Amino acid sequence: MSGPLVVLVGPMGVGKSTVGLLLAERLGTGYRDTDDDIVAEQGRSIAEIFVDEGEDAFRAIEKQAVARALTEHTGVLSLGGGAVLDADTRALLAGQRVLYLSMDVEEAVRRTGLGVARPLLAVNPRKQWRELMDARRHLYEGVATAVVATDGRTAEEVARVALDAL
Ligand code: S3P
Repeated sequence: MSGPLVVLVGPMGVGKSTVGLLLAERLGTGYRDTDDDIVAEQGRSIAEIFVDEGEDAFRAIEKQAVARALTEHTGVLSLGGGAVLDADTRALLAGQRVLYLSMDVEEAVRRTGLGVARPLLAVNPRKQWRELMDARRHLYEGVATAVVATDGRTAEEVARVALDAL
């Protein structure tokens, strides 16, 4: 199997970066995050890209960033929460070891609070979280080779369970 050792998918705020860094440390490998790649390449924040060009343009940029990271990176790779919306990206994930970090809607609202600095959740977080999860859950499940529920678990616990599940 070529490409990353493990790819992390799941909604924003679920802890992909924190858990991903822990997994990379435990596995003795590098960590990469496609959101960071995009910010570095574009020289502006994700929020700025959304505001300047809209979500579709961001998704096109993201798709390229994910495809590149999947060929270049050999360690732990985190994808932005919406990367799985793209069918080509989902096809690229076939044959990869993909860990889906899940959380329920109430956990998401609790973790991200009501004022969220993320472009997709600016108003009415609970309703938007529910819609987001309903639209994406099956996509995450479709690409996942392992699922770890993060509800009520610390990042350390999630990483431990994930290592057993991989
Ligand atoms: C998004 C998730 C974010 C980022 C952008 C859109 C989404 O990534 O890519 O704000 O559509 O769920 P994280 O999941 O890393 O926060």
